[in-house]
Amino acid sequence: MTEREQSEFPGIIAGGGDLAAFLAANKQAVDLALGDAGALLFRGFDVPDPQAFDAAVEGYGEGGFTYEDSLSNAVRTNVTPRVFTANEAPPTTEIFLHHEMAQTPIYPAKLFFYCEIAPDKGGATPLCRSDWVLDRLSEQAPEFVARIEANGVRYTNVMPGDDDAASGQGRSWRSTLSAADRVGAEARLVELSYSWEWLNDGSLRATTPVLPAIRTLPDGRRTFFNQLIAAFRGWADSRNDPNRSITFGDGSPITQGDMAPAIAIANALTYDLEWQVGDVALVDNFLTMHGRRPFEGKRRVLASLIA
Ligand code: FE2
Repeated sequence: MTEREQSEFPGIIAGGGDLAAFLAANKQAVDLALGDAGALLFRGFDVPDPQAFDAAVEGYGEGGFTYEDSLSNAVRTNVTPRVFTANEAPPTTEIFLHHEMAQTPIYPAKLFFYCEIAPDKGGATPLCRSDWVLDRLSEQAPEFVARIEANGVRYTNVMPGDDDAASGQGRSWRSTLSAADRVGAEARLVELSYSWEWLNDGSLRATTPVLPAIRTLPDGRRTFFNQLIAAFRGWADSRNDPNRSITFGDGSPITQGDMAPAIAIANALTYDLEWQVGDVALVDNFLTMHGRRPFEGKRRVLASLIA
């Protein structure tokens, strides 16, 4: 990371007092800063509990994106109507860099995070600017970039019949697709243009339609907006084989050789946000990837999504 990049990312807004009031009064300036930095950390404000975090999100004043409506693969629990646990995966599981829900056709524009309990060890939220990743990747692997841009990508995920909190990918097909039974699930899959296969153990292997892997923002910046790194590195559990989780849009596999430059570049550009109790972060989901480092001890980081 160059010094210039490091000093700008993430943007840090040190303050005090009520964050809800601050966000309501400074919405425009906050959004400008967010567009510049890609992620903002609000530190030193008075955010004692999830209710105060919920109020801060309300103060920001944009519509929510609910977990129930999303096609997220993570198991989560609502804490307040707008606030839920970030991912219930076990502490030793690393959640690799991703844009929230970019492996589905429906994703939030921004994410708020709130640290209620800071972990003893580890547990940072890695943040990585996706436009910087794409710039470097276009230099180092122009053929790969041209291919994902021309063909798009597809994701395949096996969802259990019931929530499996032991996996970062453990959300059941019933919950993911808001379906009571197979007929309902299939209706939703048709609506989403997914293809699928029922497996003997009651789980569902679903493949997305072709999704774009690069996004052009309104101001012309281009970002590596996809779930390739997380899917390739992290979609491993008793049901999922990462080597089968991503393909180019034409169905041909995306290999370790294809992914290695993107992974190395993203690692080099990653900033680890080490949480302090009461911290709130705001992440532009189209500009910045996030993840979760493994941790020891208790950690409670809550999330709220903006549509
Ligand atoms: Fe996430």
